[in-house]
Amino acid sequence: MAKVEVDLNAIPEGKNVIIKWRGKPVFIRHRTPAEIEEANSVNVASLRDPQADADRVKKPEWLVMLGVCTHLGCVPIGEAGDFGGWFCPCHGSHYDISGRIRKGPAPLNLEVPTYDFTDDGKLVVG
Ligand code: FES
Repeated sequence: MAKVEVDLNAIPEGKNVIIKWRGKPVFIRHRTPAEIEEANSVNVASLRDPQADADRVKKPEWLVMLGVCTHLGCVPIGEAGDFGGWFCPCHGSHYDISGRIRKGPAPLNLEVPTYDFTDDGKLVVG
């Protein structure tokens, strides 16, 4: 299966980048300390798809997930919505800064693909 390599040094803190992997958008966010704190301050038991932030990331500062709404597959918009993360304009699903569904019709959190980090600061998706 095809892998995609991304140089993380080129993504400043607080920025989103979208790459393509297997024909799908992959969202990469370089999270700020405040965003990481926010992601960890949520009561996991209260979530529709209960998942701790730590179970969705390999390094807290890098959030990597498929940019495909789990409702009907639209591409959510970054830095939007009521929870400081992503907003899907198709039917109004709001995802938080961990990509977890918080409001709207989507049933599940944004999916985390297989990925890894290299020693020289690259992300390998796939
Ligand atoms: Fe995203 Fe329906 S496809 S809310």
